Amino acid sequence: QAASPLQQVCEPSSYSDEECAAMDWDNLGFGLKPTDYMYSMKCYDDQIFKQGQLSRYGKIELSPSAGILNYGQGIFEGLKAYRKKDGQLVLFRPDQNAIRMKVGAERMCMPYPSTEQFIDVVKLITLANKHWVPPPGKGSLYIRPLLIGSGPVLGLAPASEYTFLAFASPVGNYFKEGSAPLNLYVEDEFHRATPGGAGGVKSISNYAPALKALGRAKNRGFSDVLYLDSVKKKYVEEVSSCNIFIVKEKVISTPATNGSILPGVTRKSIIEIARDYGYRVEERSIPLDELLAAEEVFCTGTAVVVAPVGSVTYQDRRIGFKTGDRSVCSELYSTLVGIQTGLIQDNKGWTVEI
Ligand code: COI
Repeated sequence: QAASPLQQVCEPSSYSDEECAAMDWDNLGFGLKPTDYMYSMKCYDDQIFKQGQLSRYGKIELSPSAGILNYGQGIFEGLKAYRKKDGQLVLFRPDQNAIRMKVGAERMCMPYPSTEQFIDVVKLITLANKHWVPPPGKGSLYIRPLLIGSGPVLGLAPASEYTFLAFASPVGNYFKEGSAPLNLYVEDEFHRATPGGAGGVKSISNYAPALKALGRAKNRGFSDVLYLDSVKKKYVEEVSSCNIFIVKEKVISTPATNGSILPGVTRKSIIEIARDYGYRVEERSIPLDELLAAEEVFCTGTAVVVAPVGSVTYQDRRIGFKTGDRSVCSELYSTLVGIQTGLIQDNKGWTVEI
C-alpha cells in the first residue's frame, strides 16, 4: 500500500504575507513565477509510487539517458486552485486530472500514481505554496503535475524508473489579449495529431511540434492556431492549447474525443453546464465550412478557461463572430468561473476544499 504524501509534515511557506502583498496580482498573465515548493515521488520496477518529498522549488537531477530526454516518455497535467472570498482554498475537479493522467500513462507505457496520491500531492503543493494563491478574482494558482520516465535507456524501451513531480505558479489570463476575443489562424500545413497517435492524451511530445505553427501565426498577429484533421484536412480539431466549440441556432457543437482530441476537463464541464441551461450539445466531426458559418466560436481549457473567438482566418478569408456580454460564451464563462471561485454554489461536487 503506497503511503499518502499528505502524511508528511508540511513546512509553512517561507514567504511572508508582505512579500506576497507586493505581487502585482492585477497583471499576472501566464508566465512562470516560481513558488516556494515542489514535490517529487519515484517509482521503480514494482510500479508503485513510494512516498516522495516536498522540497524547495529548484533544479532536478536527471541522467542524460533518461527516457524523457531521449524518447519523450512523459505526460503532464494542469489544474488550478482558487481563493474564495472567505479565504477558503479550493481545487477544481482534481480527480478528472488524475484519471486523465492514468489514461495517458497507459498510452505511454508508464506506471502512474493512484487518484488518491495524485490529489494528495496537488493539495500538498497548494498548501505549501498557499501564499501564492492570488486574491479572489485576481487569478489562480496553476498546478503542473508531470510524470516522466527518469530511468536510463539507450535502445527504445520504457524507462526502468519514473518520477512524478508537481510545481505551481500563480497565473492570470493565458492570452496576452486578456479577456478580449481571440483571432485564430487555420493551419493547413502542420497537424497537431494523427489517427492512432497520442493526440488524445497529454503527452509532453504533443506540444513542441505545435511551436512552429504557433510562432508563425503569432508573427502574423494572430492569437493562436486552429488545427484541421490530418487525413481529409476538412474537419476542425483543436487549438494548440485548448478545445474549440461553435454555436449556431442554440446548438453548441464541439469535435468528438475520437483519439486525436484532448478530453479537456473544462470542455467536459462546459458541455454539462450548457446542457443544464437547455442547450443541445453535440460532440461530432465539424467541417471547417460549418465553423466559418457559425454565430459564435469559443475555446475552452484549464489555462485558457473559456475564451471568445472574434475571428478565424483561413487562407485569405477572415470571418468574424459574435462576442460580448450577451453571447452564449459569456454566459457559460460566468457560470464556470462562478462555480470555480465560489460565487455560485457548487451543486455538482466539482470543487474540493483544502
Ligand atoms: C492547460 O490548459 O492546462 C494546458 O495544459 C495547456 C498548456 C499549453 C498551457
